[in-house]
This record gives sequence, C-alpha cells and structure tokens, in this order.
Amino acid sequence: MARIEGVCREVFDATEWVAIITQGDDGPHLAGHWRSFMFLDVEDGVIVFPVGRFQQTEENLRKSGRVQLLAASKKVQGSRSPGQGCEVSGSGEVVTAGKYVDAVRTKFPGARGALVVRVENTKTQL
Ligand SMILES: Cc1cc2nc3c(=O)[nH]c(=O)nc-3n(C[C@H](O)[C@H](O)[C@H](O)COP(=O)(O)O)c2cc1C
Repeated sequence: MARIEGVCREVFDATEWVAIITQGDDGPHLAGHWRSFMFLDVEDGVIVFPVGRFQQTEENLRKSGRVQLLAASKKVQGSRSPGQGCEVSGSGEVVTAGKYVDAVRTKFPGARGALVVRVENTKTQL
C-alpha cells in the first residue's frame, strides 16, 4: 500500500481541510473534513476520519469503493511558485465497529463510525 510521504505529507500536514470525492449515481459527490480530525498514521497506508453524517459517502463507497482526497497549502512550495496540492486515490469504506472506530473514538467519542481510506496513489498538482 502507498503512503502519504514527501511533499504530499508536507501538504497534508499544512492544510486546514481535505476534500473527499466519491462517485454517486448522479456523478461525483463532494464532502470535506478538517485535517485536525484526520488520523494519518493509524496504520501504514491507511487514513481514517471520524464520521458523523457521511451517509451519502458511505452509500457511494458501498457501490464503487473508490475515493479521492484533495488537499492544498500555500505554505508548501510548488514546482514554480509557493503553493502545492496533493491528490490521493484509493479505496474507501465506512465502518461502524472495529479497530479504526476504536481509534477515532479516542479523540471523538461521539463518532458514529470511521471513514477508512486505503491509499493506492498520491500525486502533486502544482
Ligand atoms: C472543512 C469541513 C469539515 C467537515 N467536518 C465534518 C465533520 O467533522 N463531520 C461531518 O459529519 N461532516 C463534516 N463536514 C460535512 C461533510 O463534508 C458533508 O457535508 C457531510 O457530512 C457528508 O455527508 P454525505 O456523505 O451524506 O453528503 C465537513 C465539511 C467541511 C467542508
């Protein structure tokens, strides 16, 4: 499994929020999450977010299982100017019990579950 490292790790450490894109019946579905809520090092190549709502995201992932994340920060140098973005693609699922839910509930006891992203590829954009 791929990891978020190098420049992409810098971007994810600097960003305030992350876009979460899944595929719905009517096209792409957008959700977001705060970086400070994100568990980047829960396991090698696995990212976990606590979820409260995310019902549509959960349904989409049940059907296609594909997810993309996008984060960016002006604090990280791009190839030509200040500012870099990183996209992450992989598989995802929402789980409501087990080790990932236990992990997110250590910080967010009210979470109904966890969005688990298994990283397959990372790519800078700028
Ligand atoms: C920066 C940011 C942070 C968010 N944080 C949360 C959150 O902590 N919990 C949550 O349920 N939704 C959060 N949302 C809202 C979700 O993106 C989204 O609107 C909804 O929860 C996803 O539900 P859906 O998959 O049913 O559309 C956040 C959105 C943004 C833009």
